[in-house]
Amino acid sequence: MELLTKTIEKTFLNLKPREEWSFRDAGRSQTTAFTHDYHRYPAKFIPQIVRKLIEDYAPSGTQVVCDPFGGCGTTLVEAKLLGHKSIGFDINPVAKLITQTKTTAIKPRTLANNRNKFLKYYENAPSVLYNHHQRINYWFDESTIQELDKIYFAIKKIKNHNVRRFFLCSFSHNLKNCSRWLMKSIKPTIDKDKILPNPKETFLRHLDSMIKKNERFYSTLVQSGYINTPAKMYRRDSTKKLPIETGVIDLIITSPPYVTSYEYADLHQLSLLWFGDDPKHFKKWHHFSNGFIDFRRNFIGTSSKEKKSGDFNSAIAKQIVDDLIQVERPLAVDVANYFLDMKRVFTEMYRILKTGGKACTIIGNTSLRGVEILNAQVAAEQMQAAGFRKVDFIKREIPNKMITPWRDLESGKFTEKNNPSKIRAYEYEYVVVMEKT
Ligand SMILES: C[S@@+](CC[C@H](N)C(=O)[O-])C[C@H]1O[C@@H](n2cnc3c(N)ncnc32)[C@H](O)[C@@H]1O
Repeated sequence: MELLTKTIEKTFLNLKPREEWSFRDAGRSQTTAFTHDYHRYPAKFIPQIVRKLIEDYAPSGTQVVCDPFGGCGTTLVEAKLLGHKSIGFDINPVAKLITQTKTTAIKPRTLANNRNKFLKYYENAPSVLYNHHQRINYWFDESTIQELDKIYFAIKKIKNHNVRRFFLCSFSHNLKNCSRWLMKSIKPTIDKDKILPNPKETFLRHLDSMIKKNERFYSTLVQSGYINTPAKMYRRDSTKKLPIETGVIDLIITSPPYVTSYEYADLHQLSLLWFGDDPKHFKKWHHFSNGFIDFRRNFIGTSSKEKKSGDFNSAIAKQIVDDLIQVERPLAVDVANYFLDMKRVFTEMYRILKTGGKACTIIGNTSLRGVEILNAQVAAEQMQAAGFRKVDFIKREIPNKMITPWRDLESGKFTEKNNPSKIRAYEYEYVVVMEKT
């Protein structure tokens, strides 16, 4: 293990950023092409990385691409566009809703007809409708809730399942806009000065942009013949055994969560609360929003977990945790749990891959309380311990930041530009490409 560790450390130290992986020239219209910006999602990767990895490692024929941290479905959308079957998992039900919507191209005429029907349903919607969770009253004002109730009522009248989900995705995206949530904040923060928009106007505006994007997605897939290429997304905890047989996946492309950075459960609480209030249609969501603390605990990298035990299968991880113990013990526990969870996911990734199949993990290094958290090196080490063999370690510069590049020096959490104790993070990230031997 010692020699292996030294080799990995040295290899990463000597890596130079590769220009062809920076996608410096990819503008917003390219990074948000097709269905890619149906719904905001933190820390999603740009589709260009996924596309290049698929082209490099699944160049011909129909292959099966998997993303165990599927998020809002970037991998699955790109796989479908390139004619590959795909399967994704994420613990977050909002991720499942978004991904299923983004990978389902709908006949443009069907959407247009249903938009008209929706407007009629909306006009005839009764005014007082639902009993909401009290947190809804914390986030929304009374008149907004009434308007949202009408929109929601009208959406649920739509009979076609895929179309209804398409409208629900737009609705879910619109919740943050209409709430008192500070738009730029990734933490649940009230913006006292926020001028609240008209919910119907913002909903329709976003819906119409999705309708336009669907049109291109649909016609592209019809032309290429990939319209029926399956893309399946499941809500699952990827630290547990995934519902896939051993050795069936050709290519894994994934970007794991980071430790103590985004609290995905908190971030999507508006959608969770809203849909969770409707147990008849969203039985599981109801369960999550009522048992929110337990639900949140299962997200990898959250800071609310009890200490787990086990071997990291990584000397680098052990060193990081030992260093953190000297600085802040609870943080060391969070990071230790994170590495233990990631070890389980890498083992599962190895199991589901075919022999010769590649796993591409896109990951950046961070720093917490002055200790460098070498996620990429740990991933390489843990993957090697799981049985993988190195194919390529790629260092890429991140020129277009999708997220704030600033972290608070003290807490390591994302912060605003005007925070005096900020440090710049995520200038680079790595693609750890390994093969199942
Ligand atoms: C960096 S994001 C992935 C974003 C994705 N690459 C995209 O483009 O949308 C990490 C994802 O891991 C998910 N996640 C966290 N813990 C998980 C777990 N135990 N099992 C499965 N997914 C988990 C989060 O919900 C989040 O969507």
